[in-house]
Amino acid sequence: MKKMKKFTLSATVAASLAFFAGTASAQVSDALEVDGTVISTTAPAPDFLDIDQVLSGWLFRTPETRALQTDDFDNPGMVFVDQAIDDWNAVDGSEGKSCASCHTNGPEEFAGLRAELPRWDEAQGKVMNMEDYINLSRVEHMGAEPLKWAKPRMDAMVALISLQSRGMPINVAIDGPVADMWEQGRELYYTRVGQLDMACANCHEDNYGVMIRADHLSQGQINGFPVYRLKNSKLNSVHARFSGCMKNIRAQPFAVGGEEFRALELYVASRGNGLSAEGPSVRN
Ligand code: HEC
Ligand code: HEC
Repeated sequence: MKKMKKFTLSATVAASLAFFAGTASAQVSDALEVDGTVISTTAPAPDFLDIDQVLSGWLFRTPETRALQTDDFDNPGMVFVDQAIDDWNAVDGSEGKSCASCHTNGPEEFAGLRAELPRWDEAQGKVMNMEDYINLSRVEHMGAEPLKWAKPRMDAMVALISLQSRGMPINVAIDGPVADMWEQGRELYYTRVGQLDMACANCHEDNYGVMIRADHLSQGQINGFPVYRLKNSKLNSVHARFSGCMKNIRAQPFAVGGEEFRALELYVASRGNGLSAEGPSVRN
């Protein structure tokens, strides 16, 4: 954190983006519907943002990639949801229980949860992510080992639970007990880091819609997470994606599951308020 400079000048931004080749604008009219569930890929931006509209990353992908998300049989991320269903029913830990032993209505019980996370949990006395809830149950209720963040088994379970909120509007609270953490996340979002000396905002706020090498730059929203990427043929967690972006600007990424990425996730999630929960989505 010490060496980070605060982003202020948009002229230097333009200079550091010299490696962008050409421009293209997002088509924002297209609707996404999966098996009758309408997914809002655009929404009026929350008040704290200077832009008019928030846009799902889906809009920035090619027609072929978008199409993969319009039918669950074509969505490669659903294979991992199936794996998580097996895991849901598998007994694990010292208590001899599976998720199904207690959550008897199935994962459907968690409809709406994804759309509110991260959120303050009074009983836990902290801001909780999906990964925290899964591990809380595993450790406290099952006597099982916590799952590692950003690993296949965790990402699959996050996908299964996220799917239950598909189409529901993201509604992450930013005030009250989370206000300080949200502020920290905002700070990180606008702070330049790495050898390329760039902030998240330089790409995902100032330049979405342009081409960066062969990639169409989106707003870097996380409403579609976890994301199946064609590039690595697996689910990718929010923190893994943040890590990847930091590496691309040659910055030392913060720890997955650590304080900085938790704050950043809270802030970035709230930037998507109004979009639909879309996970598991498909990206390149
Ligand atoms: C022995 C019972 C039990 C088992 C087994 C169990 N849970 Fe839970 N789970 C709970 C209870 C009770 C809560 C409410 C929070 C608390 O008191 O910890 C909860 C809360 C949750 C929540 C947060 C729900 C919300 O709306 O806040 C999630 C997500 C969750 N569990 C997922 C799982 C998953 C996934 C598994 C299997 C890996 C699992 N649970 C296994 C008892 C259980
Ligand atoms: C040099 C430009 C650049 C910077 C700086 C950058 N990213 Fe990205 N990011 C990209 C590109 C390119 C992609 C892939 C195309 C896309 O979805 O925008 C991407 C993708 C993402 C995605 C996936 C969006 C989706 O719908 O799947 C998220 C989330 C994201 N970035 C967050 C961040 C965060 C948080 C930061 C700051 C720590 C950051 N990025 C910094 C270029 C950047």
